[in-house]
Amino acid sequence: MKNDINRQWLIADRPVGRMLQESDFKYQEVPLGEPKENEVVLKTLTLSFDPAQKGWMENISDYVAPTQIGDLMRGSGIAQVVESKSAKFKEGDIVSGQLGWEEFPVVSADTVNGVPDGVPPTATLGVLGTTGLTAYFGLLHVGRPKAGDMLVVSGAAGATGSVVGQIGKIAGCKVVGIAGGKEKCDWLTSELGFDGAIDYKNDNVAERLKEVCPDGINVFYDNVGGPVLNDCLGHIAMKARVVICGGISRHEFGETKGPNNYFNVVFRRSTIEGFILLDYMAQFPQAGQRLAEWVRDGKIKSKEDVQEGFENAPKTLMRLFEGKNFGKQLLKIADQS
Ligand SMILES: NC(=O)c1ccc[n+]([C@@H]2O[C@H](COP(=O)([O-])OP(=O)(O)OC[C@H]3O[C@@H](n4cnc5c(N)ncnc54)[C@H](OP(=O)(O)O)[C@@H]3O)[C@@H](O)[C@H]2O)c1
Repeated sequence: MKNDINRQWLIADRPVGRMLQESDFKYQEVPLGEPKENEVVLKTLTLSFDPAQKGWMENISDYVAPTQIGDLMRGSGIAQVVESKSAKFKEGDIVSGQLGWEEFPVVSADTVNGVPDGVPPTATLGVLGTTGLTAYFGLLHVGRPKAGDMLVVSGAAGATGSVVGQIGKIAGCKVVGIAGGKEKCDWLTSELGFDGAIDYKNDNVAERLKEVCPDGINVFYDNVGGPVLNDCLGHIAMKARVVICGGISRHEFGETKGPNNYFNVVFRRSTIEGFILLDYMAQFPQAGQRLAEWVRDGKIKSKEDVQEGFENAPKTLMRLFEGKNFGKQLLKIADQS
């Protein structure tokens, strides 16, 4: 079932050096697009949210293709085919891919993929999608954990961090998560099998690290940067690997300040390495298979935080930067027909 109008959210401003705000987006209604040969008309069912979307609006060089003010806001999601001019998909099929923030995208059939049988479609946006793959490559290829290592992960109750910790357990590490608030910390230890959790909003992180990692940190997987990164750098063990996956606190603090504990990297003969998931694209199929096995075997659990309503897309992205999401942030737009 398709409507006559298509609702969209566009980029209205660049949130550089500040928090995201609703006025960074512009709402508009346009007539529904007509599909050309090899195109499909989709009905967006669920949108996926990632802190990187703010970075895309900022236009950071060497990262992703530039965005322009007035562009449709980029975003991935799950959709249902409502009209097809492609042999690849028929009406009713469920697909995933880069849809943009609109209710009825008209896209080339080559830019979306079918979703595998036997898994909830939204899992392909989270643990079985880029979130799980980010955890997988960042930890296993950059962090290179060994059995017995002490792994500390920040943003631990988030979509990526929660998978990192669970892969760490599979790799035989002791795992400590750093997250905001008691509820998130309790979930890490009681549901996900983390060995410890530190509430960075209420605990003294540097002191707690001494208690829960008495021999230091062998692998630190960082999603947040800022004071948490600095405290962890102050507590690394010899030959530690510090994985820089994300630095979400930079949005709160504006310009990122250098961590004053950085020289511990020299004393402890350690490395700090950043990575971008897209560089591992050629290895996605094998990694995806392993993640699917771990999920099937109950070794990796995941949580979804599902908000509702297309009109709430900007507010839903803002939740990530306010620490309001508990699990993979999704927005339900419509029911499957
Ligand atoms: N390198 C790559 O290729 C790549 C790919 C994908 C994602 N990433 C990065 O991975 C990180 C996690 O992404 P995600 O999608 O899984 O999001 P997420 O962790 O599910 O959500 C973001 C979380 O960040 C925490 N946070 C927000 N502001 C903070 C602050 N000032 N200080 C400390 N923590 C703060 C909040 O948790 P609390 O309640 O615990 O504060 C919030 O729930 C992001 O930084 C993202 O950019 C990197």
